[in-house]
Amino acid sequence: MAWKGLLDTYGDFLPLTEATPRLSLCEGNTPLIPLPRLSEELGITLYVKVEGANPTGSFKDRGMVMAVAKAKEEGSHTIICASTGNTSASAAAYAARAGMRCLVVIPNGKIALGKLAQAAMYGAEIFAIEGNFDEALSMVRRLSETAPITLVNSVNPYRIEGQKTAAFEVCDQLGRAPDVLAIPVGNAGNITAYWKGFKEYHEAKGTGLPQMRGFEAEGAAAIVRNQVIEQPETIATAIRIGNPASWQKAVQAANESRGKIDEVSDEEILAAYKRLARTEGIFAEPASCAAIAGVIKQRERNEIERGSLVVAVLTGNGLKDPAVALDTAAIEPIVLPNDEQVVLEHLQGVVHT
Ligand code: F0G
Repeated sequence: MAWKGLLDTYGDFLPLTEATPRLSLCEGNTPLIPLPRLSEELGITLYVKVEGANPTGSFKDRGMVMAVAKAKEEGSHTIICASTGNTSASAAAYAARAGMRCLVVIPNGKIALGKLAQAAMYGAEIFAIEGNFDEALSMVRRLSETAPITLVNSVNPYRIEGQKTAAFEVCDQLGRAPDVLAIPVGNAGNITAYWKGFKEYHEAKGTGLPQMRGFEAEGAAAIVRNQVIEQPETIATAIRIGNPASWQKAVQAANESRGKIDEVSDEEILAAYKRLARTEGIFAEPASCAAIAGVIKQRERNEIERGSLVVAVLTGNGLKDPAVALDTAAIEPIVLPNDEQVVLEHLQGVVHT
């Protein structure tokens, strides 16, 4: 049967009514891919949930389809969000699909190029502030309290409802919940959503519960440090967030599941980013690779037991951020003249080395 998207598939677990429009870009149903090389090297069974395979290239589509459908149902004409990039791309796409206006507020110069291109192409009205994500979020929250517009950041509870479906899929794909779920943490909505999803599915189907391991970037590790970071910095711009909105819920997910909120450095993120692409053929954006970096770090410290079944969530597609990719690979293409003889001789030389 053809996949029709999340509202169609998981309606029984979602707050749908007869009046909720069945909005869909066929989001969800993303692959769970085994990583044989990394599994062997780390002494675990490691899978990745490839959320970059969603229609706009990130997990945000799961929450956005639900939030935008409910906004439409409630008669709203305009949605707004603050974003480090992916939320704005997804909001813009679903607004276009639903025939709504979309306003996005982003930190100027701190969002990956692909994400900006998406928001622009889907027709969002884009405002770049000389401030960071946390400041942008506080502005749009205040505005949405008085203006007739719907806030679609993850403080909107429908976002969490949609995003929890990823946990359902992981359980369906594995036949049970993994022992450990590793996930990057920015504003902390997604870890909140996964934990809710695992608990609901366990209650309905007895699928078990994982330990939740969330990973912040070291320069933006507010939860780990237990203090607001006024000027967060990390190469993983998607999680460059110093005052996560769902802070307490992330702590609760970690505590209830006997997991942990931990941090990884930019060096660890970039090493994992490269290793994942080169040894497994999977290209995920830097923030996503915080989950892989975290698994590597916690295996080295034996905080994840040998033999564990681990799922790492790759939240966004590598193509979102071509600038970091080109900097990391650090390879300039070798430019050759348009002369068959010269090109062939050069390539023959390469093949024989
Ligand atoms: N990974 C990616 C690729 C993201 O874009 C985000 C968040 C996260 C992880 C963290 O998820 O906030 O639920 O803890 N991006 C938001 C945005 C903030 O605006 O696109 P979280």
